[in-house]
Amino acid sequence: MARPKIALIGAGQIGGTLAHLAAIKELGDVVLFDIAEGTPQGKALDIAESGPAEGFDGSFKGTNDYADIAGADVCIVTAGVPRKPGMSRDDLLGINLKVMKSVGEGIAAHAPDAFVICITNPLDAMVWALQQFSGLPAQKVVGMAGVLDSARFRHFLSLEFGVSMRDVNAFVLGGHGDTMVPLARYSTVGGIPLPDLVQMGWTTQEKLDAIIQRTRDGGAEIVGLLKTGSAFYAPATSAIEMAEAYLKDQKRVLPCAAYVKGALGLDGLYVGVPTVIGAKGIEKVIDIKLNKDEQAMFDKSVDAVKGLVEACKGIDSTLA
Ligand code: APR
Repeated sequence: MARPKIALIGAGQIGGTLAHLAAIKELGDVVLFDIAEGTPQGKALDIAESGPAEGFDGSFKGTNDYADIAGADVCIVTAGVPRKPGMSRDDLLGINLKVMKSVGEGIAAHAPDAFVICITNPLDAMVWALQQFSGLPAQKVVGMAGVLDSARFRHFLSLEFGVSMRDVNAFVLGGHGDTMVPLARYSTVGGIPLPDLVQMGWTTQEKLDAIIQRTRDGGAEIVGLLKTGSAFYAPATSAIEMAEAYLKDQKRVLPCAAYVKGALGLDGLYVGVPTVIGAKGIEKVIDIKLNKDEQAMFDKSVDAVKGLVEACKGIDSTLA
């Protein structure tokens, strides 16, 4: 059986890391696409040349021609610009919306059956625009945010409790921005929910609140340290987890920016929700029940995403 084909649209920091991870995990043949001449070709060759030492097979091609992504099973989109210190993700909207238009058209023309994972920010608005521009079914177009935000939350919690990150499960919903909703009640250490751990005295509510805020600011913390761009290792790893769930029909339960119509009281919006990812793409949106405080935070986040979608419609009238 032929290897799956993975097209990476954008061969920058995240795109290169995605290619390297896909290679090491032997997920399939990789095509790196970028408008910058030489960058995708150079990264593809460099990764291919790491194969003999690492011991993986597969083909790695860099290109500036959308025709080379033909028939891709998965497309992961990082094309666009990242933020610089002091910028919010929302500041990228105008530039990256134009990029989503050309990427959406390229995918529609050459890889219409792909499972598409968008990483470009501001995420919730860009994945919506990408679905609109590409015309692919909504269950096959999804945004990577919740896996990353939850991974950051899990990492910070593991530091607080002094336990393995593997035994910490955490859950972040809502938009991938300052209003994201880390859900303490649904987050656990060894199966024990965080509020119970506070009651047991293993941590304090103050420390938990600080961890939740650090999670919300997780992207900005990295931007502040790097100064020249934004995070790429953890975002790439998170998207690869989603791609693998699709390619191997794993039915993983992962928080993603999915199109939600009906669940959680939403009437057609891309926002971070718990989903099941398998061979059909987003196979299920899990309609969890929120308490009053959680619902208020989620509503605020939904409003922020709706504002970004309206801003997109204001910029590009074909989206209205
Ligand atoms: N088509 C294809 N590639 C493009 C286009 C386009 N229209 N416009 C820009 N690119 C490419 C750039 O040439 C660059 O190689 O996208 C790549 C982006 O890479 P980086 O600048 O290194 O950004 P990265 O850190 O990978 O982040 C990409 O993901 O997390 C988000 O906020 C982040 O929006 C940003 C995106």
